[in-house]
Parts: sequence; C-alpha cells; structure tokens
Amino acid sequence: MCGIVGYIGTKNAKDVLLDGLEKLEYRGYDSAGIALFNQEGVQIFKEKGRIQDLKNEVPIAAYGQIGIGHTRWATHGKPSKINAHPHQSESGRFTIVHNGVIENYSLLKEEYLPGRLFKTETDTEVIVQLIEYFAGQELDTKAAFRKTISLLHGSYAITLIDAEDPEVLYAAKNKSPLLIGKGNGFNIISSDAMAALKETKEFIEILDEELISLTRDTIMIENLNGQKMERDSFIATIDSSDIEKGTYPHYMLKEIDEEPAVIRHIIQSYQNNAGEITVDQEILNEIMAADRIYIIACGTSYHAGLVGKNLIEQLAEIPVEVHVSSEMGYNMPLMSKNPLFIFITQSGETADSRQVLVKVKEKGYKTLTMTNVPGSTLDREADFSMYLHAGPEIAVASTKAYTAQIAVLSILGAAVGKQKGIQAANELDLVAELGIAANAMEGLVASKELIEHLAAEYLAVSRNAFFLGRGMDYFVAMEAALKLKEISYIQAEGFASGELKHGTIALIEDATPVFAVITQKNINWNIRGNVNEVLARGANACIISMEGVNQPGDRLVFPQVHPLLTSLVSVIPCQLLAYYAALHRGCDVDKPRNLAKSVTVE
Ligand code: G6P
Repeated sequence: MCGIVGYIGTKNAKDVLLDGLEKLEYRGYDSAGIALFNQEGVQIFKEKGRIQDLKNEVPIAAYGQIGIGHTRWATHGKPSKINAHPHQSESGRFTIVHNGVIENYSLLKEEYLPGRLFKTETDTEVIVQLIEYFAGQELDTKAAFRKTISLLHGSYAITLIDAEDPEVLYAAKNKSPLLIGKGNGFNIISSDAMAALKETKEFIEILDEELISLTRDTIMIENLNGQKMERDSFIATIDSSDIEKGTYPHYMLKEIDEEPAVIRHIIQSYQNNAGEITVDQEILNEIMAADRIYIIACGTSYHAGLVGKNLIEQLAEIPVEVHVSSEMGYNMPLMSKNPLFIFITQSGETADSRQVLVKVKEKGYKTLTMTNVPGSTLDREADFSMYLHAGPEIAVASTKAYTAQIAVLSILGAAVGKQKGIQAANELDLVAELGIAANAMEGLVASKELIEHLAAEYLAVSRNAFFLGRGMDYFVAMEAALKLKEISYIQAEGFASGELKHGTIALIEDATPVFAVITQKNINWNIRGNVNEVLARGANACIISMEGVNQPGDRLVFPQVHPLLTSLVSVIPCQLLAYYAALHRGCDVDKPRNLAKSVTVE
C-alpha cells in the first residue's frame, strides 16, 4: 500500500526511481509520480494507473540527480492525476511524497494555513504547506520539517526535497515503513528493500519519529529533539533475482509453484543437527507459561491462524483464540490471566495488526510475530519472532506465505507439545510428515492442466461460488473463497457445510458452482450429505478430496497426508482454481483492483 523511493547520487534519478517504483508495484497502488530536481528546478510527472502509464508521461530526456517517487493507494481523495504524489507547497519550493494517514490534517489546515491555496483533496498537501509555513517563520528546512512532523497525528513515511537546497534529501516516518539504502556516492530512501536492491544491499533502519538527512555521501539520523542517533547497517538477505518473475507469466503462479520448496526450506530452517524440529527455548518457555494463546491476523494470515488454532490445541494442548486484528484492537475480549499473543503477518507491516501489538504491549503481555520479512515493524516490535522463510511474496494474493504460516505453526505446536510430553506431539514425526505434504503439494502444482480445466468448467461465467468444508477443510474453504474473490472478482463464500442449510442455501440455483474440500474421515459423510443437498437444488458441485476419504466422482483426489497437515495440500488446487478463473476472465492476476499487499493504514 503506497510506496516511496527517493534517490540522491550521480546516476539519473529518473531511472532509479522508475525502476524502484516498479519493484513496489506489488504493494498495491492506483496512481504514481516522480519529482526530479535539475537546472530547471523541480519537475513533476504523475499519472493515474500503472507505472507504465507514468513512464509514458516522463520524457526520455528527463533528468535529475536528486528525486523522489511514489505509488499511491488512495485514502483521502479519489485516485486521479491531481491527487497523485509528489505534492508541492504553494510557492513550489518544497516537494514531498507521503504514505499513511494524517488524522488531524483538517485541524492543522484550519489552524495554520487559512487562506492558502490547495490544489488537491489529500492530507499530504497539508504537510508540505505546513513545511513552507514554518520555513516562512525563519526556520531552516530541517527545523521546519521537524516542527511539522511534531504536529502530525497518525501514520506517515515522508520524503522531502527543498528546491533551494537540492543537495539534501529529507525523510521521516511514524508507523509507516521506510528504510535507508546506503551506497557509495549515493543514498536511497525506500518503503522496503525491494525498491533499492538493484542499487545496494546495505540498509539502515529508521525508527518512528526520527528525522533523516541524506546527501550523496552522508547519512544523518536525529530524533525529534535534534539528538544524533548512531545505527549499524544490515545486509539484506534477499537478492534482486528473488524478486524477478523469470519465465513465469505471473508472480502468483511462480509463488504457487514454489510452495513445496518453501516447506522443505522451513523444515531445514527449524531442524537441529539431530534432524529434530527445534524452536528457540525462550519462545517455548513463554508459550508453556501461557494459559491461552491469542492469534491476531488479517486476511489470508487470519485463515492460516484458524488452522494454527487446531494445530496448537491438538499438539500442545493450550487453548487458542483467533481474532481479526481490526476488531481485536477496539473490542478486546475478556483476557485470560497469562495470555500470549501471536501475530501472523506475511509483510510484518499490517497497520491493523500493529495497533493490537502496541496495545497488548502496553498491557505488558508477551508477543510473538510470525513473519516473512525479518526487520519489518512487527518483527522488531514483538518480544519474539519466528520467520516463514518463504522468500519474497510479490503477488498481492498470498499463497506461499499461507502454507509457510501453517508449516511454522505446526512446528511451534509440535515443539511445545513435545516439551510438555503431549502424546499427539510425541507420536508425530513432523519432519517426515511435512516432507510427505511437500511431495503431495508438488503433485498438485504439476496438475495444472486438470485444475485449469475445472476453473473453465465451473468458474468461467459464474457470478458467485461457494466453498464448503468442515473442520480444517472449512478453514481452507474460507481461504479458497478469499483467493477467488481477490483476483477474479467472483463473489465467493467459504462455508461450514453444515451451516449452509440454515440460510445461505437459499442462494443456490441452477448451475451455482459449489466446491467441497474433504480431507477429514470423521466428517466425510456429513459433508457429502451437504453436497447432495446443493446438488438437489441444481448446484454444479465439484469435490476435491484426499485419498482415504475419496469416492467415485470426486473431481480431484490428492495423496494422503497427516490429518493435521491437510490444509497445506488442499489449498493448492483452490489457489490454482482462483488463478485460472482470473485468467479466463482477463483479470490482472498479480495486481487485483483496489487491493494492496502491504496494508500500512488502518
Ligand atoms: C492484505 C493482503 C492480503 C493479506 C493481508 C494481511 O489485505 O492483500 O493478501 O493476507 O493484507 O497481510 P499480512 O502481511 O499481515 O499477512
């Protein structure tokens, strides 16, 4: 959600910015723009739509040795060329890009900026006008910037250039992500490492309410009191080749294909020399000390959390509640005496989850983040972290992070269960079982032709679809429906199949597509009964089942895996169904409308 790149150096900033913005496309956006400083002053180019549309706007000869760029996901003001960033102060002296939401922007506008001419509907324009206002009160640029950010309430990542001093790039952040990319003779600011990887692998973290001044050769970090801060750099572990599509038509397909390898990588990463699953002892101690675990997450990560509840309850015998972040922060349930919070987040930046983290930390509760992005905000701010080791996930629709989250949750559950001497954990050879699941996943990613055929048969023209399941399969049904909605725009619902007849079955009509996921022996016949109920009402039903519970007529049957790990496998055909349905309908698979990958505003 929104992306920032800023560059100061000797190359043409235009090229670095446009390339960086392309790398940030995955975060989700609806317009984009760049500002370049050169002999003619600051030149701004912006456009609604894709980076390619922006590229068409920028003349080949455009040039600048300092510049800032932005992808915008509209919050204040509709997506349009005028509302796209960068924005300028009234005189044109200051130019900024901004991510986040300024909650008090109308108050600030009223108090400090009456009579000023505003060109846009954005909260961002208030920031840049304020900087100019304070600069007009005899403050130098840094002081005017500092004064401005001290007044802002809300979330922001800002990068600023001053046309009267184009040798410095300023930046600041609060709650929204921003990193310094350190170079030799240049420096970069970016929302995440991906945008800068082509130029450098060395990064420096920026903390909330710090003020950054970059020249070509220097980096200065200060807090709001003007005190200098020293911080070591770190080397990013991802490589620019990790974020290329290669020969794949879409990142989503590449990421689905990577899922078996990710599971194998997770096994290796959480294995000790004796080949046993191992988790940091401090984490295990904290979990064993907890009387209840609260899993907090959004979207796909929430669905992985639902599977995780089963895994932890069965393997570690600790009660688990799973909550949607955006609800949890403002409507906390009655908490147990010794709760422990697990935040599941692919990006580690989701604002809804972070607001819960901040609140539970204030209450003194212990926190663990499961994330794919080391160094991300939730990784840094939680007491403990466990990594997903899935590699960069670029497609907006999450696939490999979901299965990675389930695998890591199973590892956590099994490790705690083994220490507690729980029979179910002692009897589970998780390394072997995850390996078997990875093999089954591999078989499914190789069955693309069949799944493409099913997508064409069931989903090519339908306006809605249902996914049914019970137990673990219900959770997968919810994720399957979310995937289909996200990228094909087919209205889809994941349902506990027994609940369907209590209302929703009224929506079943001739040829309504209904998919049933069946992997659990104890509910095999119940769910088949529910499928018969929808068939009797004209539905077009498709059963996806696992060997051992399969029946003649099931359209897709995959090899048997451990009953606790079925979600890892049954979700693959659902992800592929969504992918091919979206393709058939001509949708933009990797960048679905209105969605963002990294949702940094609440
Ligand atoms: C966005 C993405 C979803 C993702 C959710 C949670 O809505 O589009 O794919 O599941 O955020 O993201 P997180 O990074 O916290 O897992």
